[in-house]
Amino acid sequence: MDAAGAAVDVDSGGAVAAVAVVGSGSIGVAWATVFAGAGRAVRIFEIDPARRAVVPAEVEAILDGLEAAGVLEGSASQARARITVWSTLAEAVEGVDYVQECIGEDVEVKRRMFADLDRLTGPDVVLASSSSTIEASRFAAGLDGRERCLVVHPGNPPFFLRVAEVVPAPFTSERSIRVASELLQSCGIAPILINAEIEGFVFNRLQGALLREAYCLVRDGVVSPVDLDTIVREGLGLRWSVIGPFATSELNTRGGLRRHAEVLGPVYARMGLERGADDPWSPETVERVAARIEEALPYDSWDENVRVRDAAMMELLAVRRGAANPLGAGGHVAGA
Ligand SMILES: NC(=O)c1ccc[n+]([C@@H]2O[C@H](COP(=O)([O-])OP(=O)(O)OC[C@H]3O[C@@H](n4cnc5c(N)ncnc54)[C@H](O)[C@@H]3O)[C@@H](O)[C@H]2O)c1
Repeated sequence: MDAAGAAVDVDSGGAVAAVAVVGSGSIGVAWATVFAGAGRAVRIFEIDPARRAVVPAEVEAILDGLEAAGVLEGSASQARARITVWSTLAEAVEGVDYVQECIGEDVEVKRRMFADLDRLTGPDVVLASSSSTIEASRFAAGLDGRERCLVVHPGNPPFFLRVAEVVPAPFTSERSIRVASELLQSCGIAPILINAEIEGFVFNRLQGALLREAYCLVRDGVVSPVDLDTIVREGLGLRWSVIGPFATSELNTRGGLRRHAEVLGPVYARMGLERGADDPWSPETVERVAARIEEALPYDSWDENVRVRDAAMMELLAVRRGAANPLGAGGHVAGA
């Protein structure tokens, strides 16, 4: 029983009271503000003394910014008071229920770190890596406590992008997945369970597809780097913050996603072939996607769905109006 007498589920993310953040570069610092903002004690371990010296100021700037934007629960000073910075791993993990590793993206470095974490923490402590691309099978398979290891990959920065990929290895326990997912949820971050370990997971596979094409287009002189960024920022990216690419295909085409695939599928297949990718959308996959998307957006209500989408877009437009891009035209620092 907790102080209020309510039962606490020791197998849920709600029971995570203290989190260790290991490594405090951009991701570690941002995670620390997320967990502390959601009421957790956060114990940061950073190996580099120069980083340790600047982390408190970086944390403070983010929390103050979130408070000023009106998106922090409680005050920045309360959240800041929950964060401590430690110079040894053993001290940082003392008494925590969950570890979010945020050190460099190198499989050997992660393997060594997870061996240390496995040794230094109790059997109920969940060990999550922020890795963008490396599966837990590649750095935790040999550990006694491997069932508590998984990847929890944030967008950068996690205080802004409120979604994270939860990527278990085949050996990760259901409990570890649940604890991590519920912790994220309680911090206002949607956990997305990734069903198979695959390099780059989903977030970076999608980003990779876009970047591959972007580099080709710039290489071939089709568009400038700044104009490409503007097309994504003011075009695709803005739209995707209201509806995802499948819902876009459904609502951009009378006839829905099936009609979209019929008309544009061959065009996209040709573009793929041009880049050496022979992956046309099969009718079975299109049908599977259409059936699922139309459960949420029934085709009978297509006109109404488009109206709701338009209203959401107008609302976003209103929020953005007057918010000049501080990075300048094109979203780039002037002169850069
Ligand atoms: N940068 C991104 O856009 C992004 C997005 C999502 C996930 N990630 C992942 O998050 C992790 C961290 O990324 P980052 O961009 O913050 O890296 P970073 O290089 O900015 O920070 C890493 C920090 O870890 C510290 N460190 C290194 N070895 C350590 C050790 N043994 N013990 C303690 N601290 C140690 C470094 O001193 C540094 O401060 C990586 O796995 C990365 O793939 C990055």
